Amino acid sequence: MKTYYDCEPTLNDFAVLEACQRGYHRLEAVVPEEINARARAFLETNTSGEPSEILFEDWFVEGVIKNPQAAGAIRSLLGMNFGLPILMSNHRIEYPTSAQEWHRDGNSKFTHELRNLQVFYLPQDCTMEMGPTEVLPGSHLLYSANDHIKHLDRVRGSEFMSGPAGSIFITVYSLWHRRSSSRRTTTKGVRNLLKYNYFRTAPPQRDWIIDPEFDFATAPYLPSRDLGYYRDVWLAASHVAEMFLWLCGKHQQFKTEGGQTWPLNTARFLDKPYGVPPGL
Ligand SMILES: [Fe+2]
Repeated sequence: MKTYYDCEPTLNDFAVLEACQRGYHRLEAVVPEEINARARAFLETNTSGEPSEILFEDWFVEGVIKNPQAAGAIRSLLGMNFGLPILMSNHRIEYPTSAQEWHRDGNSKFTHELRNLQVFYLPQDCTMEMGPTEVLPGSHLLYSANDHIKHLDRVRGSEFMSGPAGSIFITVYSLWHRRSSSRRTTTKGVRNLLKYNYFRTAPPQRDWIIDPEFDFATAPYLPSRDLGYYRDVWLAASHVAEMFLWLCGKHQQFKTEGGQTWPLNTARFLDKPYGVPPGL
């Protein structure tokens, strides 16, 4: 298979900003069932935890790796000519089983620079009873060593990546996650979950879908409290703005003055908040 790929971006400014806030972008049931069935059959004959051979199957590359909706979102976040997966992992488990420890995957960095993405593909339905991946929204920009988070159990505001077969979840690599418990059920079964990465090769620039309504001065950088954030949303707003500006190729303009200034949109009777970086 070719190493790089390019396609039209599918996310607009607001969707890219939301991905910066949450640290992930969910796509439900985007892979056709015919491809899901072939993937399941492949994984029944290759039960390895690293079935990278599937990356050489044309039907899999076209239907999953270059899936139009997934690739369009990845193109939006990683820029043109992004690098395709080089390794395939299968988190194949027999359930019921207990939850994993919360963790970030090995070699995670905490940075506003989005240079790769970690993607999960469900070849089969994954219900809450089957121990779906649990993630903590916004945690990709919250530094913590694994030693400091592994003892946590239920975390308020976490989200479960359950979903129908053919769902693809695109995440920032450093997002806190774990396999959730499947002990709620006595039913036995096998759950497959494929995981793979994409890589940035191009310098960041705002070449996704431009929304004319988007205004850098007043954009909603502050995460909604409805997200159930585990973290300080005020500090998160600065981190989100920095990541978004980096993606736009405008990181040299990023500067915050703190208090009631940008990126918070606190101006109630002015057109824009104080502290908007010049030229934005
Ligand atoms: Fe993991």
